[in-house]
Amino acid sequence: MSARQRVRLRSCILLGFACLLSIFMLCSGFDGPHNLKPDLYSAGSADSSQGPSNHDNLLLTEAQCREAFPGFDGEIVEAKALGPFDLPFKEHGVVLQAKIENDELYIISAPGKGDLSATMLHRQSATIHQLYRAIKTSPEPLPNTSFAFGTQDRPVDASLSFARPIISPSRKRIFPMPHFSFWSWPLPFINSLPAAARAIAALEDTLPFAAKDPRAVWRGTTWFNNGAGSHPRLRQDLVATAAGSLWADVQALRWETNSREARNALPIQDFCRYRYIIHTEGIGYSGRLQFHQLCESVVLSPPLEWMQHTTHLIRPAFSSTLLGRADTSRYPSAYERKGWPREYPVEDANMVFVASDWSDLGETVRWLEDHQDVAAGIARRQRETYHGGGYLSPAAEVCYWRALLRGWNQVARPVGEKWHQPGVPFEEYVSGREDGR
Ligand SMILES: *[C@@H]1O[C@H](CO)[C@@H](O)[C@H](O)[C@H]1NC(C)=O
Repeated sequence: MSARQRVRLRSCILLGFACLLSIFMLCSGFDGPHNLKPDLYSAGSADSSQGPSNHDNLLLTEAQCREAFPGFDGEIVEAKALGPFDLPFKEHGVVLQAKIENDELYIISAPGKGDLSATMLHRQSATIHQLYRAIKTSPEPLPNTSFAFGTQDRPVDASLSFARPIISPSRKRIFPMPHFSFWSWPLPFINSLPAAARAIAALEDTLPFAAKDPRAVWRGTTWFNNGAGSHPRLRQDLVATAAGSLWADVQALRWETNSREARNALPIQDFCRYRYIIHTEGIGYSGRLQFHQLCESVVLSPPLEWMQHTTHLIRPAFSSTLLGRADTSRYPSAYERKGWPREYPVEDANMVFVASDWSDLGETVRWLEDHQDVAAGIARRQRETYHGGGYLSPAAEVCYWRALLRGWNQVARPVGEKWHQPGVPFEEYVSGREDGR
């Protein structure tokens, strides 16, 4: 490609982006940060069915973000509290290294086709697009900062990652970033979080909790466990526990093509048709959780061992307490308690943690069915938090990215000259220009 073609391509992309932005501004009635009506910010007035909402507004200022999404930056606060750390430049590896200078995004090094699978390359591309959107819609300048992010389930130290282990003895510096599905997840039964949120809203509008399927649903790939972790057969055990039970609709996915089409897969919104949704982490976090959190359903999960950027908004009730066995049950274990020291009374809870060997799963479902007002309350509070509070909305996503870049910049100390390379502007990088090093 000639230099002139490159310039022309870059102008086209920028023009396209500017058009999209103007359309967005027209549609959302946005006319400048100072003219936003104050009632658009109150976190409670969140329901998209109740008129205009700030949840689609990508142009909130830092102060407006805080007001609209209280506590949304819990993970950033926690990561920052560990103090400053060195950010060495990695010559080879699975992280993308980039910097922001004068609100422009430059890619310094990125793993390519020879380094990452097509799935991982998609995640990397989706993530860098999200970042760019958050930078370009920021009404305030962002700090110059250098950073690294990885898209693997296992996070690399000193990086942004989709999740961090809830307990990290080595005090690794891992900053959770929004999941790639906020941009896209090209599986036919998912597509993206915003697409799923719309489908779920349509479903929830017409399906009250009491009318939902009273069973607990799960679909998944049984071998996809953390072999080295505390529950190496978590998923097989679930299928075995639920087999033949009337309270369960638990099925191992029967893949027809290479992890793209499965005969018994459910469109992601259809999980919300059930009163109970069983959640399992995999090799690491499970990207499905945030989709299930948009449902007005009770999510039943072993205590989570991975924190995504909104996991801290979970207010768990423990099955052992619901069933009146807190004194005698082996669950939660001391390790699980350490990760989740706080237990919420059922009137406040928005999720239920069950025994991680599934030994009380059936009883818990039965208990919730016998106490349907409690179950309905937990389900309602989950949707109120994650949908009503807007924490998974496009506005919250860009707010979080910007807070993340600011927070990261306060503690990350890039080491070495390599970080000072010019890098490739995002616009050129995404239109095919390779790392120029
Ligand atoms: C960011 O970096 C650019 C280029 O080095 C510099 O001109 C600018 O002053 C920096 N901005 C801030 C806020 O430090």
